[in-house]
Amino acid sequence: MQSLRRASCRWILCKRSSKSNTRTYSSKNVVDVGQPTAASHPWLMKEGEMTPGLSSDEYISRRKKLLEILPEGSLAIVAASPVKMMTDVVPYTYRQEADYLYITGCQQPGGVAVLGHEFGLCMFMPKASPHDLIWQGQVAGVGEALNTFKAELSYPMGRLEEILSKMMKRASTLFHNLNTSSRSYMDLEAFQKAGHDGRVKDLSVYTHEVRWIKSEAELMLMRESASIACQALLQTMLHSKAFPDEGFLSAKFEYECRKRGAQRMAFNPVVGGGPNGTVIHYSRNDQKIRDGDLVLMDVGCELHGYVSDLTRTWSPCAHFSPVQEELYSLILETNKECIKLCRPGISISEIHNYSVDKMRKGLKEIGVLKNDNAHNYHPINPTNIGHYLGMDVHDCSTINYNRVLKPGAVITIEPGVYIPSNYDVPERYRGIGIRIEDEVLITESGYEVLTGSIPKEIKQMESLVNNYSPYGMESNFQNISKAASRG
Ligand code: GLY
Ligand code: MN
Repeated sequence: MQSLRRASCRWILCKRSSKSNTRTYSSKNVVDVGQPTAASHPWLMKEGEMTPGLSSDEYISRRKKLLEILPEGSLAIVAASPVKMMTDVVPYTYRQEADYLYITGCQQPGGVAVLGHEFGLCMFMPKASPHDLIWQGQVAGVGEALNTFKAELSYPMGRLEEILSKMMKRASTLFHNLNTSSRSYMDLEAFQKAGHDGRVKDLSVYTHEVRWIKSEAELMLMRESASIACQALLQTMLHSKAFPDEGFLSAKFEYECRKRGAQRMAFNPVVGGGPNGTVIHYSRNDQKIRDGDLVLMDVGCELHGYVSDLTRTWSPCAHFSPVQEELYSLILETNKECIKLCRPGISISEIHNYSVDKMRKGLKEIGVLKNDNAHNYHPINPTNIGHYLGMDVHDCSTINYNRVLKPGAVITIEPGVYIPSNYDVPERYRGIGIRIEDEVLITESGYEVLTGSIPKEIKQMESLVNNYSPYGMESNFQNISKAASRG
């Protein structure tokens, strides 16, 4: 059934005729489904894609895979992320819950998706009121669930109580996400009764099982997301000598990502100058960076549902001190050795244990630690060597770090050291924070570094920062002329 809802005249780019071969605009009507489609955003999506880069067939096969591992007769219930309000009618930027997006392809709030062996995918959809249309614009409804998102069944949210209650009563087990549950279905008597009978369980162990190994199409999006973040961080690094300011560097990174097509940041950028780099998830980003201090930037963007996550630490004044270099070299060596360990059959835990051994010995040799026991080491590096990466930054968190890696898994490798200003180490090491983070895809034969295009060698970074002029060739030329005339 074609949706009857059509947007009012919308101008889209098209070819006038093959003869003239000129591009002009047509007033062809395009259905507005509340999110991009191949018809409304032809520069972004191909025919047959449900979301940019991902075909309808891929979404249908995800649903099948999930149903194959769910116990017979059970239901999987996933609610769309709620809209969080900043104040009365002003919402925060919306981000869809990863499982809901993974299963449905719907980037919009207000729905509840139910997967069952008997019927496939059933989507309960919101209906926009005239008030919603005025304030928020068009939203996907029942017609779009069937036509755009290829659900087998769809009903308005108004019928959820009647229809979902019947489904729940027949089901052996109800699986749902404990941390993204919604009152729309949890308040139903049938759900409460199932809970009472011990028939309500966590769904994420199943969704993470299918999500943690990425398909070829997902890997293309992961590569693109990483590439955008690398290009953006390189531009940010280049501007850091002229603008040694945490807020500026954070804004520069976000701008460079957004202009390359990213929808949003993957998380609040961490831009820590000097001792702020010792705060692992520092996000105030409101300080000037002092001459001689390092800056640590842990950043990433989200592209069509897939995130990037990388960290570089460098000197905006383009000169590492010997102490900074000594510590940085240890972290860099650890980063490179851990990346080389990546291959099918090894686990994140094993790579972590290797990194801890190496760092403890190295920090003792340098003289940071008096003795290399865990008690002394842990406070200056309490983080894990890495995590899974995908639709979420700490992706598929129910997959144990002891699980052996398989081709198609993406992980981060992020050794670091975070020495507080008041910590009991020789004074020269106090207040230094360093992390070097890369994204690594596990392949059949080993690994592929997705963030390899951004330098991490001290000499390369110093040279980049030193030889770049944000004001262009002219000012570079003026500087060279001035230097020459000073003779
Ligand atoms: N880059 C953020 C984190 O790994 O926690
Ligand atoms: Mn990370």
